Amino acid sequence: MRLGVSGKHGVRCSIGTASGEAKTNFPAKLQRLSFSTVKFRPDHASSDLAVSSSTSSRRGLICIATLPCLLPLIGSLRANAMQPGTKEYLLIKEEVRKVLSKGKAAGVLRLVFHDAGTFDIDDNTGGMNGSIVYELERPENAGLKKSVLQKAKTQIDAIQPVSWADMIAVAGAEAVEVCGGPPIQVSLGRLDSPVSDPEGRLPEESLNASGLKKCFQRKGFSTQELVALSGAHTLGSKGFGSPISFDNSYYKVLLEKPWTASGGMTSMVGLPSDHALVEDDECLRWIKKYADSESLFFEDFKNAYVKLVNSGVMWNNL
Ligand code: HEM
Repeated sequence: MRLGVSGKHGVRCSIGTASGEAKTNFPAKLQRLSFSTVKFRPDHASSDLAVSSSTSSRRGLICIATLPCLLPLIGSLRANAMQPGTKEYLLIKEEVRKVLSKGKAAGVLRLVFHDAGTFDIDDNTGGMNGSIVYELERPENAGLKKSVLQKAKTQIDAIQPVSWADMIAVAGAEAVEVCGGPPIQVSLGRLDSPVSDPEGRLPEESLNASGLKKCFQRKGFSTQELVALSGAHTLGSKGFGSPISFDNSYYKVLLEKPWTASGGMTSMVGLPSDHALVEDDECLRWIKKYADSESLFFEDFKNAYVKLVNSGVMWNNL
């Protein structure tokens, strides 16, 4: 049996089995419960258990002997913590809601894409790992801030440590709902990366539809999911209806192509990448469907969002 520190979330316990290793993660709170006589080398998940030589080896043995009894309890607590609707989830939701106004919702939702959107399905790097907090100086992240969520995170950390990745995933879902979009529940247990993700993974606004499709394919998303996720641009200041209403006006406005009208502010509506979608037949079919049915858009956005925030995730669970 090996015990190792698993980031700030808790202690990972790996038990050798015939077929390999079964891993159980202990909530951080439980580190204090019964492991006070055990020292953990904080060198990631595979670190070995080191019993303090300053305490008696008998106490160490008692601790190890009690582990099998505690494992089922600890395992079930962790498994519960993964599910939406638990105490942990409600705590994050509550603290996020305290700092999240409708005006801040667009920036928070964009933060999700800029954290998760670095995922590359081929080499399984990047993704929803909180590394955006190291990447805010990059030109593509100009205007994004973690400070909106910092206060909420500090409050939650004092009770039950939470990763940036979980914070941002829940906050983005709350941002959608606060602006009238569908309620979205995400799982918890993402581990944060200690380093930044590779650069150049996010789509440039100058991409045409074929470039956007390829870029999203590399992240594991279909054309339908590209179109559904792009509906996030209904929030913010690009002219797709109210900047603080999450609805299907993005698709309705795309079909009108106001940027083709000469003169006036209408030419400012949308990004070149938004305009490109409506020129592509496959994307256009989805744009029409979502313009016709807001409930279909909500359902598809919800599913694509959950997929987005699960991209490339290292889970702190079994
Ligand atoms: C399809 C490829 C995408 C491109 C090229 C793109 C690019 C951009 C750009 C250039 C902006 C404007 C930033 C500014 O005003 O300075 C923006 C805004 C925004 N993006 Fe995207 N984006 C894409 C997809 C997404 C996705 C998938 C999401 C989330 C699911 C998202 C969420 C947002 C939000 C909410 C805003 C408004 C931010 C605000 O007004 O504060 N974007 N995007």
